[in-house]
Amino acid sequence: MGFPVIRPRRLREKAGFRQMFKETTVSLHDLIYPMFVIHGRKIKHPVDSMPGVYQLSLDHLLKEVRELLELGIHSIILFGIPESKDALGSSGYERHGVVQQAVSALKDRYPKLTVLTDVCLCEYTDHGHCGVVEGEQILNDPTLELLAKMAVSHAEAGADMVAPSDMMDGRVAAIRQALDAHGFSQIPIMAYSAKYASGFYGPFRDAAGSAPQFGDRRSYQMHPPNSDEALREVAQDLEEGADVVMVKPALPYLDIIRRVKDTFNCPLAAYNVSGEYTMIKAAAERGWLEEKRVVWEALTGIKRAGADVILTYFAPQVACWMDKGKWPE
Ligand code: PBG
Repeated sequence: MGFPVIRPRRLREKAGFRQMFKETTVSLHDLIYPMFVIHGRKIKHPVDSMPGVYQLSLDHLLKEVRELLELGIHSIILFGIPESKDALGSSGYERHGVVQQAVSALKDRYPKLTVLTDVCLCEYTDHGHCGVVEGEQILNDPTLELLAKMAVSHAEAGADMVAPSDMMDGRVAAIRQALDAHGFSQIPIMAYSAKYASGFYGPFRDAAGSAPQFGDRRSYQMHPPNSDEALREVAQDLEEGADVVMVKPALPYLDIIRRVKDTFNCPLAAYNVSGEYTMIKAAAERGWLEEKRVVWEALTGIKRAGADVILTYFAPQVACWMDKGKWPE
């Protein structure tokens, strides 16, 4: 049977039917908002390459989170900009580090807020790499212990979930073991499992002050042409105890999101990274793209590919549009 009996346009004609038969929905519960907390007071420092994103000191962070909650954003992931950096990133795992303080203040003030923390050394090391450095090499095994320490310190501060983004081998097992040993067997791990060595992280490195001071991250982050390898990374992280796995970036890797979902059918996050945000913002500022429509399309596409949750800098903006009944769906 075909045309003229079959006319797919029948269900497209009226808004009611388009809504009724829509296969994918983006809801605020699916979104996690990345935030940058900086040491100090009364700081709200705009990130030039990410319009609308700021480095916030704790006082401003608390204010901003109240507004997010009012808008219906209930989950954030925190990145820290510490007062000082050294070769081993020790400001990243001290009890009163910038993230640890922020987590405990946030959970104290807003117990229902879900707070994830990014676990990685690059924001805290003077060389900007995600691991311990020897000469030009990024050492894997000595890094694991530091990551585990950082994860435990975040859990002690009250983090609801920890998210290692370093791409060292074996970090999920090391973190799981350390969390369990410290009484945090109930704290889940969201592993940045298929994290590619991407040019799309450029603006983030301005925001977090975490650009590598020599070389690049290609010896630990994944090579962009690879797909089967992503499945092996995910399999390994799940075996080591990851509760949620992540594909990052999102838009250039939608095929990976779909393969991971089809293969493992596990909780899956996708990170709509800084460069993906910046591209849309820049084009929208020039009037070259209609921001709301393309954000809706991009986030819907990431969900349609198979992601359960999306880490995105657009979260507050989406919440505003939804609040005003202007979300296009
Ligand atoms: C830390 C980290 C990075 C991002 C998240 N965690 C940067 C990097 O690997 O260089 C990127 C996020 C973004 O671009 O929005 N390792």
